[in-house]
Amino acid sequence: MLIFAHRGASADAPENTLLAIEQALIQQADGIEIDVYQLGNELVVIHDRWVSRTTNGTRLLSDYSLEELQTLDAGKGQFVPTLWQVLQCVQGLCLINIEVKGVRDVLLINECINKAVSQLGFEAEQFIVSSFNHHLLLAFKSIAPKIKIGALTASNPLDYARFAEDLQAYSVNADISFVDQNFVIDAHNRGLKMFVYTVDEPKDLLKLQAWGVDGVFSNGPAAAKLVLAVKA
Ligand code: G3P
Ligand code: MG
Repeated sequence: MLIFAHRGASADAPENTLLAIEQALIQQADGIEIDVYQLGNELVVIHDRWVSRTTNGTRLLSDYSLEELQTLDAGKGQFVPTLWQVLQCVQGLCLINIEVKGVRDVLLINECINKAVSQLGFEAEQFIVSSFNHHLLLAFKSIAPKIKIGALTASNPLDYARFAEDLQAYSVNADISFVDQNFVIDAHNRGLKMFVYTVDEPKDLLKLQAWGVDGVFSNGPAAAKLVLAVKA
């Protein structure tokens, strides 16, 4: 079962910062999940529309220029990085799940991935672009048919993973609060990977592994890997 560092190794460093990315690499996460918004023509790595939860700023993200945003304190001497700065930090060393929160121009994501493949030693197969916004995933798929997409769901659909199959997704990425074995079986029967967020509890990790879940998003990748290694 793959372990993705959720918002980087966010149990050990401020979420979605370069320190959290470095920690995820040190902890040998199989992949890193980050949240992305568009700011002007840049892609920035932050979870919320408001900057106040994760920085000392007080306004809507869209009220800032990139320069202003990057002067804000994200804790432990960190700032809000661009997607490109995160990819420069990772240098192709693990999988990257780009969770698209608020992006108008999906071309920007594709350009960033292509540049990372040509300049930073990534393979295109190392990227998964996921979103709760399935219209956005469709738009991305139409311009980048070879990049994997992850269809996120925060609710338990009546027909399980069918929505992700309809999107021609690579994976269904679902909340642990409702995932059960039937959902996992249904995803696999449709040829989809099953990823689950956010999983830190040892008993949850072991249960999901026993169900054949393909990957989890965990705030503490080293601790998660330890739980699975002890069991193995
Ligand atoms: O991508 C998995 C997970 O990060 C989705 O929820 O709110 O943590 O971005 P959230
Ligand atoms: Mg996320």
